[in-house]
Amino acid sequence: MQRVLVLTALRHSALTAKVRSVRLQPSAAMSTLLINQPKYAWLKELGLGEDNDGVYNGTWGGKGEVVTSYCPANNEPIARVRQATLAEYEETVQKAREAWKVWADIPAPKRGEIVRQIGDALRKKIKVLGSLVSLEMGKIYVEGVGEVQEYVDVCDYAVGLSRMIGGPVLPSERPGHALIEQWNPVGLVGIITAFNFPVAVYGWNNAIALICGNVCLWKGAPTTPLTSVAVTKIVAEVLEQNNLPGAICSMTCGGADIGTALAKDERVDLVSFTGSTHVGKQVALMVQERFGRQLLELGGNNAIIAFEDADLNLVVPSALFASVGTAGQRCTTTRRLFLHESVHDEVVERLAKAYKQVRIGDPWDPSTLYGPLHTKQAVQQYLAAVEKAKQQGGTLVCGGKVMDRPGNYVEPTIFTGLAHDAPIVHTETFVPILYVMKFKTEDEAFAWNNEVKQGLSSSIFTKDMGRVFRWLGPKGSDCGIVNVNIPTSGAEIGGAFGGEKHTGGGRESGSDSWKQYMRRSTCTINYSKDLPLAQGIKFE
Ligand code: UN1
Repeated sequence: MQRVLVLTALRHSALTAKVRSVRLQPSAAMSTLLINQPKYAWLKELGLGEDNDGVYNGTWGGKGEVVTSYCPANNEPIARVRQATLAEYEETVQKAREAWKVWADIPAPKRGEIVRQIGDALRKKIKVLGSLVSLEMGKIYVEGVGEVQEYVDVCDYAVGLSRMIGGPVLPSERPGHALIEQWNPVGLVGIITAFNFPVAVYGWNNAIALICGNVCLWKGAPTTPLTSVAVTKIVAEVLEQNNLPGAICSMTCGGADIGTALAKDERVDLVSFTGSTHVGKQVALMVQERFGRQLLELGGNNAIIAFEDADLNLVVPSALFASVGTAGQRCTTTRRLFLHESVHDEVVERLAKAYKQVRIGDPWDPSTLYGPLHTKQAVQQYLAAVEKAKQQGGTLVCGGKVMDRPGNYVEPTIFTGLAHDAPIVHTETFVPILYVMKFKTEDEAFAWNNEVKQGLSSSIFTKDMGRVFRWLGPKGSDCGIVNVNIPTSGAEIGGAFGGEKHTGGGRESGSDSWKQYMRRSTCTINYSKDLPLAQGIKFE
């Protein structure tokens, strides 16, 4: 059972079916691979070939199952990756822990210098790596480049942080005593990432974990293995040029066996998991079982609320970007749109018009705004959700169909008329379907925002300052990301990213998220000749 559940770091468990079916196909013949076509020769700039090693721990390997990576825009095979065996996982953990002995001794600002070099190396490859993300994940080119930019930005952020992390010196109640907080790295950080942000999410974890003094072991999504390999090649080159052990940034491509091994492994001091709530729960239970540390970034069911005083010139493009962008496959995608009854009809009309103008095409074509879903299974999930929304009383405003073209294309879709608590509205289907609901009062809208299981992102559109602060306050949004007059998606790296409830509670990237990658020691040092006890206790 666990094998299947943890097969992937995929955001949607149903996608595991794709992975299994891919593996059952005979390996794509050499001549049919996209990498062999002149049009895709640029893939070689990333050091990729027809067959690629899916293990890195200072040396490259991969003796496990061979997976073929397919392009979601045409379902053509791109190239193949040899995944890790359990024996290679074992060897990699040992090498990573050995590498930690070297890395932990390097002063934090010097570790920051290595992270700065990683950021620079990524800058040089940003376009070609962004193109690979577009080809393999299916998101549009600017978004592919955008997520490499997030990795670059978090490297810059981490460089500064490498001179700032630390704890306070606190006032001791005892004379001649110092009370200080010391922060140390946890050790080995296992990073399991999802298909939808195959670069950025690793980047957030990797850059911050490194400056804190940790080594990393990455398992990317089984459907984006070429991106994992290409990123690791860039990082590995920096480590090797600095004569550092490559195992500081290890990678084991794989599925259930590797994911389960990592979650259960007491030598993995922190498991950072980004993916579906369903799989995240299985990972969390395995990690908790051994009292391990975890950082979970799971599902979202994010809402935009537009009040009667909202600037509709902001609402319409925000709802469009957040619901249609990345074809609805961000954890921060807007899935629920609550419109005050006075603006409902106008916004629906303007939004439907905007939806019809979205340029659909090959994700790597610069004029395209909307590409395919990542897998064929996601197309099935889309169709099932459209059916359920109709059954539960929804009115289809636009979309609702699979598109007649190669690849996993579906129409961006809007439903109105569903109850705010209809089961489908409370379900995170990782596709571009937006449910629009009408509301009357602020209390009602805030309550509806909070009534779902997930707690990732949320936005209101208003000019009322009182309402803004009620939204930010204790009776406002219960999410980790609480926005005003901007979309639910598109967070900056400087803030802590993550959410509450079934979203898992973890925080990655900016602010004080670094604390999740370190352990805190409270240290009391007596520099006097006496032994006063705390609370004034006399024990003599
Ligand atoms: C995710 O979908 O897992 O805020 C992350 C955003 C992006 C990150 C999304 N910066 O939409």
